[in-house]
Amino acid sequence: MPKPKDNKSSQCPPKHVAIIMDGNGRWAKERGKARIQGHRQGARQIEEVIRAARDEGVKYLTLYAFSSENWNRPKAEVDALMSLLASAIKKNAPYFVKNRIRFNTIGYISALPSKCVESIKNLVETTKEYDSGVLTLALNYGSRDEITRAIKKLLIKAKDSEISPEQITWNSLEQMLDTAGMPDPDLLIRTSGEMRLSNYLMLQSAYSELYFTKTYWPDFGRDEFHKAVMEYKCRERRYGLTADQLKK
Ligand code: IPE
Ligand code: IPE
Ligand code: MG
Repeated sequence: MPKPKDNKSSQCPPKHVAIIMDGNGRWAKERGKARIQGHRQGARQIEEVIRAARDEGVKYLTLYAFSSENWNRPKAEVDALMSLLASAIKKNAPYFVKNRIRFNTIGYISALPSKCVESIKNLVETTKEYDSGVLTLALNYGSRDEITRAIKKLLIKAKDSEISPEQITWNSLEQMLDTAGMPDPDLLIRTSGEMRLSNYLMLQSAYSELYFTKTYWPDFGRDEFHKAVMEYKCRERRYGLTADQLKK
């Protein structure tokens, strides 16, 4: 059961911020540009937001970059996104190393093109001991796929007699999720005006504070991030308790 330990959001920055980076296509369309131009500008914004999160004292930043449903987009767009991913990892690797930021992914990455998988694995390995922040990219990620894979892992453990069905708790299931070892997101931001989770961190966001902005991702920068954090700090997190209970 979640504990109401961080209910006074005003006292501290969110430890973990998760973002649904949406609106690249509409940003481009409104400027008469191709969708990929929006994705390119979006990739630049990632760099600014990583720096902003660090300055705000956010330890974990988890970015939704490609969903398990995004494979159904036109092949040219998917291919362009994969090339962009490979070059963004290459370009940003020195920043992670210099600032001792651990790089991580969630999602079924083996299905990505091999050049992406290789650069991801290299950067995960290089940064695995770093502790000044954690940047996680959700790639080929979808909560339904994640929970399905988690249940398969648990069933295999049960079959091998490592766990009995009676012993299964939320804790044991949580440890099978891609996010095992990470705290749940305190703040979940979605840009572009859409108000849905689109299969993102659906279990982990059970008690996250949600923040929606109409700003398209390619326009979401340091100031917008700060605004979201400030709003988070004004929220009261109750975890099922009453406001009076929290005061005690
Ligand atoms: C988010 O922007 C990026 C990805 C899903 C990869 P979109 O590409 O979804 O942009 P819109 O929603 O079409 O404007
Ligand atoms: C969610 O955005 C996925 C990412 C931001 C990577 P989508 O644009 O794919 O979501 P829907 O289709 O609007 O729900
Ligand atoms: Mg979208």
